Amino acid sequence: MMRKKNISINNISFSGPVSRSAASDLNFFRKLIYVFEKVDGKGIQKLQAEGVEVITGILEKECIELNKRFFTFHEKQRPYIILKWAQSIDGKIAGLNSERFFITNEFTNRLVHKWRSEEVSIMVGTNTALLDDPSLTTRLWQGKNPIRLIFDMNLRLPSSLKIFNKQVKTIIFNKIKQEEENNLIFYKLEPGNILEAIMEALHEMNIQSIMVEGGAKLLQSLIEAGLWDEARIICNEHLNIGNGVNTPAFNGVLQKQERCFSDVISYYAKPEN
Ligand SMILES: NC(=O)c1ccc[n+]([C@@H]2O[C@H](COP(=O)([O-])OP(=O)(O)OC[C@H]3O[C@@H](n4cnc5c(N)ncnc54)[C@H](OP(=O)(O)O)[C@@H]3O)[C@@H](O)[C@H]2O)c1
Repeated sequence: MMRKKNISINNISFSGPVSRSAASDLNFFRKLIYVFEKVDGKGIQKLQAEGVEVITGILEKECIELNKRFFTFHEKQRPYIILKWAQSIDGKIAGLNSERFFITNEFTNRLVHKWRSEEVSIMVGTNTALLDDPSLTTRLWQGKNPIRLIFDMNLRLPSSLKIFNKQVKTIIFNKIKQEEENNLIFYKLEPGNILEAIMEALHEMNIQSIMVEGGAKLLQSLIEAGLWDEARIICNEHLNIGNGVNTPAFNGVLQKQERCFSDVISYYAKPEN
């Protein structure tokens, strides 16, 4: 006779039919579960009580990578933050007078939409929202649209922008009003440290990850506040912009690089303190 049993180890969980002799059936999972010291031990005890042999400390690096958003959210009480920008070979993210360049190729554009689909939210600064009028969706990739997080302290963004179309949940961080209508939330911040207040609000809203897509001022302010975990930079090696907006200055540890025709994608981790 089969019965349904659910067992979870923090965010690692499985469910399914197991027989009355749970121990032998659960042993099947023994090789699939890589438990390590970060879990509180209750899940381990639960499994051991069922007679499952639990092995700890294996593939720890891979486990941490797989659960990086979850761990950062709980340990640092803020979302996991990925900085992303596209740049020319001469280190510019836009032209002078905010002249817009299509920096990356169609393949890396699609990759960026895949990245968006993997995160809970996406964040941009006021100037980027105004000058680029981005949708910030995953339209080039099948997947969930991230929640849009927009800086607009003084509510200077016009309602004609795509971010206000209510098709995707959007939070406008500002200093003026608290209001909610359908998918559009104006979140009023009290005077004080804006970035800290936003991180606190996002933690309360259970937003576990953010992809920050510029512009330079927002990225720089996060870097200076130490509020980032990784950076993904796409450089078009065939493009020279000349006079323009410089890339943010940052100190990252290069993890890997991939080439996609004219574009080189560099993945950086934040250096350990
Ligand atoms: N190549 C790329 O990957 C990429 C990506 C995005 C944008 N861009 C380009 O970058 C240019 C815009 O960049 P940008 O550096 O001028 O602007 P931005 O970072 O998009 O926006 C800057 C504005 O956002 C608000 N803001 C940013 N950080 C803040 C903070 N920590 N606290 C409070 N307010 C904050 C401020 O608005 P207030 O002044 O109202 O206070 C600030 O002036 C555009 O030309 C765009 O095309 C390029």
